[in-house]
Amino acid sequence: MTIEYRQITSAEHRRFGVAVERGFGGHYKPSHEAFALDKKTLTPGMTMCAFEDGEIVGTSGAYPFESAVPGGAIIKNSGVTAVTVSTTHRRRGVLTNMMDRLLKQEREKGHPVASLWASESVIYGRFGYGMSIQHEVIKIDTRQEALRHVPKVPGRIRFVDTDEARQLFPIAWEAAVNAYSGIPRRDDDHWDRGMMDLGPRDDWGKPWLIVYEEDGKPLGYAIYFVKELHVFGEQTHGLMNADIVVSSTSASHAALWNHLLNVDLYDTVSTWRQPSDDGLAWMLADQRQLERKPYDGIWYRIMDIAEALSTRTYLADGSLVFEVEDSFIPEWGGRFELSGGPDGANCVETTKTPNITLPTATLAAIYLGGAKLGELKRAGRAEEHIEGSIALADAMFAAVRAPWCPLMF
Ligand SMILES: CC(C)(COP(=O)(O)OP(=O)(O)OC[C@H]1O[C@@H](n2cnc3c(N)ncnc32)[C@H](O)[C@@H]1OP(=O)(O)O)[C@@H](O)C(=O)NCCC(=O)NCCS
Repeated sequence: MTIEYRQITSAEHRRFGVAVERGFGGHYKPSHEAFALDKKTLTPGMTMCAFEDGEIVGTSGAYPFESAVPGGAIIKNSGVTAVTVSTTHRRRGVLTNMMDRLLKQEREKGHPVASLWASESVIYGRFGYGMSIQHEVIKIDTRQEALRHVPKVPGRIRFVDTDEARQLFPIAWEAAVNAYSGIPRRDDDHWDRGMMDLGPRDDWGKPWLIVYEEDGKPLGYAIYFVKELHVFGEQTHGLMNADIVVSSTSASHAALWNHLLNVDLYDTVSTWRQPSDDGLAWMLADQRQLERKPYDGIWYRIMDIAEALSTRTYLADGSLVFEVEDSFIPEWGGRFELSGGPDGANCVETTKTPNITLPTATLAAIYLGGAKLGELKRAGRAEEHIEGSIALADAMFAAVRAPWCPLMF
């Protein structure tokens, strides 16, 4: 039986949802409202699927995100999502064929980069994705005095209900979009759909919602769950899962963490999508109480190298010629000359002698300043032809703050 690759029609939306959920081992049973929003946020034109004999056997899609790059410019960023192949059709190249079509479809729309969360980190490198935004999974024992070094905090924390959160969280989110490279903007439909997931989670109960404000302006928020494990006659013991902590300033970050680490009765606090350089370790009285594990967060795929590299700025002035190898879509690779600095950049195809040869996944890894080319070279993932070029690339691509993306998509 031959496999056909195409977008879904609007009549196929529910079958698409069923196939996506089944691909992850679940059952698609959205409420009426959730289904209506799923249809609005991922329209047929954003999908690319595989069909056999009229049945959906592979799914993929991409949200038309916008996110910041170093220097603050906003780039069109295809948020790849819903990638599954039916268990009946795996390891026959279905994903490979869908990804080829999806990426080309997204570039046709004028999106220079695509990004995704990977369920397994071995999947996407072969398609030219590089590990661009690394997160940290952290756990803190708060039985000791938790925070010693807290920056001055002019604002205040308060609890909000879901209605108020729906009003205030998007304002704090937009502030974070502008403070970090990598956080996608969210429109009203995405917010409405996201708020539907704020119910009880497993045996954790309903979450608590807090917001940090200065002069009435929301600059950060957190959503956290608590679970009391206390047994009478034994030491008080409870867990806190900080599902998401979003802050756009050092003060909001410090205030939110000061709150989370000082909720009595919950002596173990964990979270899993922390920025890697948020300074929390330096605020703790005892750094040994902090367990941190790096975790691959967002993978980027550069689809238009000249456009992507011209859009960001660079910390140091410089000019470099890159020979970029793209083994998945060879016509997107080639030789590019980048000239840039703090005030702007220009990147064009060239025939000049290259300074550096690298696969497109390596370029994606360093694109937002989240990884260092020198380190990738030591791993055999880049080649230097003219001495000093990699040091210059690292000086140019360095980011003032590590990129971050707390949005699950
Ligand atoms: C991941 C998934 C979409 C792969 O689909 P697929 O059609 O089997 O992939 P392909 O046949 O095109 O595989 C291409 C290559 O990637 C490899 N590969 C694919 N998925 C892999 C995985 N999970 N682990 C290791 N290798 C994998 C294949 O072995 C193949 O390698 P080869 O080219 O050397 O032969 C499918 O396994 C799936 O639906 N998994 C569950 C849902 C999921 O995790 N989706 C990803 C969400 S981010």
